[in-house]
Amino acid sequence: MKWLFTSTSLLAVALLSSAQTPVKLSIQLNETAHAVSPTLYGLMTEEINYSYDGGLYAEMVRNRAFQDHGFGGVAHWHIVHDGNAMASMQPDLADGPSAALQNSLVIDVQKADANNQAGARNEGYWGMALRANTTYKGSVYAKAGSSDLGPLNIALVSDNSGKAVASVTIRPITTEWRRYEFTLTTGNIETSSENHLRLTVEHAGKLWLDMVSLFPPTYKNRANGNRPDLMEMMAGMHPKFLRLPGGNYLEGDQIDERFDWKTTIGPLVDRPTHRSPWNYQSSDGLGLLEFLEWSEDLNMQTVLAVYAGYSLKGDHIHPGPALTPFVEDALEEIEFATGDTSTKWGAVRAKLGHPAPFDIHYIEIGNEDQFDRSGSYEGRFAQFYKAIKAKYPQFELIATEPLKRMKPDVLDDHYYKRADEFFADVHHYDKWDRNGPKIFVGEWATREGSPTTNLAAALGDAAWMTGMERNSDLIVMASYAPLFVNVNPGGMQWESDLIGYNALSSYGSPSYYAQSMFAEYLGTEVPKSSASDESPRFFYSVTRDPSKGKVYLKLVNASSVDQPVDINLSGVNVSPKADLISLSGMNPAETNTIRTPARIEPVKSMVENAGARFSHVIPPYSIQVMVLDYR
Ligand code: AHR
Repeated sequence: MKWLFTSTSLLAVALLSSAQTPVKLSIQLNETAHAVSPTLYGLMTEEINYSYDGGLYAEMVRNRAFQDHGFGGVAHWHIVHDGNAMASMQPDLADGPSAALQNSLVIDVQKADANNQAGARNEGYWGMALRANTTYKGSVYAKAGSSDLGPLNIALVSDNSGKAVASVTIRPITTEWRRYEFTLTTGNIETSSENHLRLTVEHAGKLWLDMVSLFPPTYKNRANGNRPDLMEMMAGMHPKFLRLPGGNYLEGDQIDERFDWKTTIGPLVDRPTHRSPWNYQSSDGLGLLEFLEWSEDLNMQTVLAVYAGYSLKGDHIHPGPALTPFVEDALEEIEFATGDTSTKWGAVRAKLGHPAPFDIHYIEIGNEDQFDRSGSYEGRFAQFYKAIKAKYPQFELIATEPLKRMKPDVLDDHYYKRADEFFADVHHYDKWDRNGPKIFVGEWATREGSPTTNLAAALGDAAWMTGMERNSDLIVMASYAPLFVNVNPGGMQWESDLIGYNALSSYGSPSYYAQSMFAEYLGTEVPKSSASDESPRFFYSVTRDPSKGKVYLKLVNASSVDQPVDINLSGVNVSPKADLISLSGMNPAETNTIRTPARIEPVKSMVENAGARFSHVIPPYSIQVMVLDYR
């Protein structure tokens, strides 16, 4: 966050003429309307836009298990034949290192020697980011056609110079499948993502490879872990929960392409990988346990969505006996995540390295089941509800569409809109029935800007968040979607995303900063307040935290001219000095990109004239949080 050592209010008053009538904002700080949901802001995640593979999941080798191959050959792998070496490669669909991975890459080396090596190279996820004096941990399953194939040379090579920047040799490869571990350490190199990994031999013969893996240092040094920069960006959003594993990713296009959690746990070689609905193969390296650990690493509770018998292309399982195995599977999944070590699946979790149960309070049944035209959701939900409540009465159960015959604990509402649509809909929940289910806004976003959203979107988001805070007695949780996008060509399946990255770096969209500001200054109570003379693109929300003696006033001016506000705070003494955090730009199309990541960022300044009554001017296209001290 930048600091601006002037009073934005005074500066704005002095420099800009006000075209809008002042809004009269009256806040009764001694009267509480309701408590703020402490879990209001969280994260929603799924494998889309190369969110995990090629994103958060730090694996550097793309198509490491050779599942992705076709007319174009084995995707992201290329033959290596230095000098006079002769070799060819192809997928072997009948030989692999495990029951889950029954295919591999076979390289047939007809001719090679120490100076003319042959093998294969991997291009990574749009390159491989390498930094100076860094150790990369790798492993590979390999098998030789005969015992005289010799050692396997592994190197990280600069795309531009063709020179190895780190290399290692592993002992002669045996004729049985074996896992070999290695490390590659760089020297004093320049940071770059224009690198690849190569694996070569010095003798003729056949070499099979599978599960070729390479990791940089990860967040909290977890093996099979996550990218530190993306974890830190999420931490900057102060999220209270993580909704996982989707989204469409939970459902899959077909029933057998759903997120089948049991195939995503345990050693990587035992995970078969699966086709995701976003049209690429998921490595499942980030599986259920890794999701739960991700929540834990950022002190978030998990909102666990269980597959509920409907997949995106329309197939569904009818309620009744056919659905029972899916209900049983969900119960086992919940036991895996929350059961103690005396339970069957709690013991499996402990064996995989995490004896303590995870922090879960909400279970979501399905995703966007309004698209199931068979009308089976009510029956499917009821069957899951009955079984889960019987075994786990402590959990709140979330439905994904309104039900006619029963009241779920929580209803998941999704909103993808333009900024103007959100401006027009900020009072959506003001008059909502408080006797119905609580609301989880499980997916929402202002869709303007690509691949990440622009300032117009941040303004739409901020306006919508003022409405969610005002209704945070009803709205228990909200999570923006999608969270991530790999900005390389072909990386994006869904426009308008929150955080962008390539192999080397990452950045936040203006929407990212708007959310971070709202979540950081959430508050615990909503005091009574009212506004008059509001212009159509002015929005506000006010919360406070009595334990800290702070009032958080969020102000949004989505118009092209100043918005003056006359603020009247009654019931307490307010200090004249207040912090002001502002996110603004010159026009709604302004944005951040991978090359200009910090064009729109929050700026901190001071308000010097706060008090029981004071005037403030919000500059055009601005989102502001004023942090007032009171006694
Ligand atoms: O967030 C992108 C997609 O939008 C989600 O997968 C789905 O739930 C929704 O339709």
